[in-house]
Amino acid sequence: MRKIIIDTDTGSDDAVALLLALREPEAEVLALTTVSGNVPLDQATRNCLMTAEISGCNPLPPVYLGADRPLMRPPVHARNVHGEDGMGDRDLIHPTISPVAGEHAADAIIRLVEQYPDEIELAVIGPATNVALAMMKAPAVMARLKSIWTMGTSGFGPGNTTPVSEFNVYADAEAYKVMLDFGVPVTIVGYDMCTREAAWNVEDTDRLLKNGGECARFAVESNCKLREFSIAHWGSDLIDLPDAVTLGCMLWPEMVKGSAACVSHVCVEDPATYGQVILYDGHLLAGMDGFAQAPYGKTAPNCTVITAIDGALYKEKLEELLCR
Ligand code: RIB
Ligand code: CA
Repeated sequence: MRKIIIDTDTGSDDAVALLLALREPEAEVLALTTVSGNVPLDQATRNCLMTAEISGCNPLPPVYLGADRPLMRPPVHARNVHGEDGMGDRDLIHPTISPVAGEHAADAIIRLVEQYPDEIELAVIGPATNVALAMMKAPAVMARLKSIWTMGTSGFGPGNTTPVSEFNVYADAEAYKVMLDFGVPVTIVGYDMCTREAAWNVEDTDRLLKNGGECARFAVESNCKLREFSIAHWGSDLIDLPDAVTLGCMLWPEMVKGSAACVSHVCVEDPATYGQVILYDGHLLAGMDGFAQAPYGKTAPNCTVITAIDGALYKEKLEELLCR
């Protein structure tokens, strides 16, 4: 069993990622930690609690509240994408369970990493604020984190929040920089991996509604605003689920068909490029030729970037889990 913690700003694609992890037999979800992002912290926490209840997972993992704002900037949200409640505005969110009182998410992450040194894999599917706080507060403990899987950056494609930045980084680029430069092995699933063949189409959602039960219906209905945004934004009736793709890559290695060791550089200074993450895989360029020249001050790759996935296999496995 793989011991995992999921840090989430529970919007509707996070919800599918949480359902995937909570229903995956090979994953032991030690804790869920919430952070401001898609929606404010309290709403993200309510959405997380409701999703955990719907998952059918027993026993349920504890839920800890984290940062209600980024390290250095005012909070940004994505209600125009996920809905006012972050979950499709379909009146789905009525949790009967409560979060753990009295322990901040960052402290819970530190405590669990100390309890299980070199065993815990951390999935970061929202802004990295909680992770950065934990790393700054207890660096020696956090160095014993086995690995980090992050949905973040636009990969090698365009941004989805500015032309060059992806939402999770744009919401708190300073935190993302702390996380990437800390030294724990990081695997990045960029937004470029999450559109096209990995997105749900109408046939996928029709099958889920026809063959699935409460869990599948919740997964589809909570993403109805994301679907409307895709139609308006991309002109295509697809539901891209970046966080679910990330948990899929993390838990189902057979869906990963390519990756690259990269040096990363998170842009935080210039407003025009704030939240951009430059990823350099060492290929020959006119001004750079590999890692020996210490591009962006780094003499070796500090992350692995997923460059190809089997979207059909991912969707097949996800559908099976949701309809089980
Ligand atoms: O850019 C997509 C990411 O930002 C996803 O994690 C989505 O839930 C939002 O947090
Ligand atoms: Ca998210």
